[in-house]
Order: sequence, then C-alpha cells, then structure tokens
Amino acid sequence: MDLQIVRDVACETALAAGEVLREGYGQIHEVTLKGATNNLVTEIDRRSEDLIMSRIGRVFPEHAFLGEETGAGGRQSPWRWIIDPLDGTTNYAHHYPCFCVSIGLAYEDEPVVGVVYQPLLNELFVAVKSQGATLNNRAIHVSGVDTLASGMLATGFPYNLQAFPDAPIAAFESFVRQAQAVRRDGSAAIDLAYVAAGRYDGFWESGLAAWDTAAGVLLVTEAGGRVSDYADAPYTLGGPTIAASNGGIHPAIIAVLQAASRRP
Ligand code: IPD
Ligand code: CA
Ligand code: CA
Repeated sequence: MDLQIVRDVACETALAAGEVLREGYGQIHEVTLKGATNNLVTEIDRRSEDLIMSRIGRVFPEHAFLGEETGAGGRQSPWRWIIDPLDGTTNYAHHYPCFCVSIGLAYEDEPVVGVVYQPLLNELFVAVKSQGATLNNRAIHVSGVDTLASGMLATGFPYNLQAFPDAPIAAFESFVRQAQAVRRDGSAAIDLAYVAAGRYDGFWESGLAAWDTAAGVLLVTEAGGRVSDYADAPYTLGGPTIAASNGGIHPAIIAVLQAASRRP
C-alpha cells in the first residue's frame, strides 16, 4: 500500500467533508438522539459521512470501513477506514465553534494514517506511520512540559456520565487540583490533535469509540507523545480508557488515574 496516496485521499476527503460542516454551521438542524439523551446526531453528520464513504470507497473498494453513522461495511480486509464525520456534534448543534472531521486508516487495527480537520480554523492535522505528524504541512511535536503542575490537560465525559458519574468525576477533580489547567472542549479528536501539536500536554477519557481516536492516537505518537490505557497498558482502538500525553508527564497522569479509580 502506498501510504502517500492514502494520505492524499484522506486529506482531500477531510477537506471536502469539512466544507460540508462549514456550510451547515450555525443553521438550525434536525437534531435526533442516539440512545442517551445527550448523544446527538444531525443531518450534517450523515451528509459528511456519506461524502467520506463514497469518496474513499471509490478509490479503495477493497477495504473495510467503520463509520460512526453507518457502522461496519465494505470488504473483509486488514485495511480498515475508521471515520468520525463530525466529532463534536453537541458543540455543532449548539453553534459552539469546536468540531472536526476525523479519518483514520488502520492495518490490522493499528492506525497507519490519521487526518483531523478543523474547518473553521482551516487546520489540517496529518500523521503517517513512521513519517511524523504535521499541521498544515509543518511538522508538529508534543510539548516539553515535565510536571503536571505546569501542564494544560483536556478531557471529555462519556455519554452515560449521568448514570455513572463517580469514576470520571473523581479523576476530573484530582486533575483540576493538580494541573495548571483542565479543558473540556467536546471533541476528542481535536483534543488528541492538540496534544500532538503541543497545545495540550495531556488528555484522558473513558468510553470513547474507535472513530473518536483512530486518527488522533497516530497524531500523538507520530508527534513524539505516548498513548496508553489508564493502567499504562497499550491502548487498543475502542478500548474502555485512553490516556495520551507528551510522554514526560505520562507517569504522573497514570498515577492520578490509578488513584482516582481506587477512590471509594
Ligand atoms: C464525542 C466527542 C466528545 C467526547 C464524546 C464523544 P461525537 O463525539 O468526541 O468530546 O467526550 O465521548 O462521543 O458524538 O461528537 O462524535
Ligand atoms: Ca466522536
Ligand atoms: Ca461524531
């Protein structure tokens, strides 16, 4: 597989899907609920996913696909496109300008190409396995921050938080007390891209799906950072927990997550 061709197709597709999001932004949408009362979907999520699936499917008809809105499809293949057509739907539905398109290609469940596009800022984050990460064609690297106390972290909360608030809130409270700042921006793919770009120093969240993280985890590792689960074991796509950081503060992040999980 020529990863440069894959990369180019992923970038062109993310830019085109981003245009769909930009055009629909700020308008009233048909908002419907997926299960939980806080898990939203709009017609723009579906329009963006249709565009992505048809473009990539035309070039790589032999590949497998996993899209948030259409589920699993395509052929049986070790190559699998993992797509979040609009990460940050709650923001989008509330006209809060923080959302993106996330497109990843995995080989045997290991991301090899990742693209995150934030259309309102025209920021295109791209990673290719063993070839580094870029933002608008310039190399990016994780930050050099080496203590939690000087770090700016990001997190998000799972859609079942209202039913099971204890563990996520315990971790959030500990980080708020120990880090320089904590943000909750509502787009896990952007959070990971920002760790890669050195804007955030670390990120943690539970309950994310493969489409939230497939592109972002490759951005972080290719920018020199670390990704694991809360027990510091290797993160697997769609696994229950994820911690990502610049590497330097990873042990401190894991220590907080472990202590929070032991709190009664
Ligand atoms: C959500 C966002 C959010 C995270 C949620 C995700 P969606 O994705 O990434 O930051 O906290 O868990 O489900 O639904 O906007 O694509
Ligand atoms: Ca998402
Ligand atoms: Ca989504």
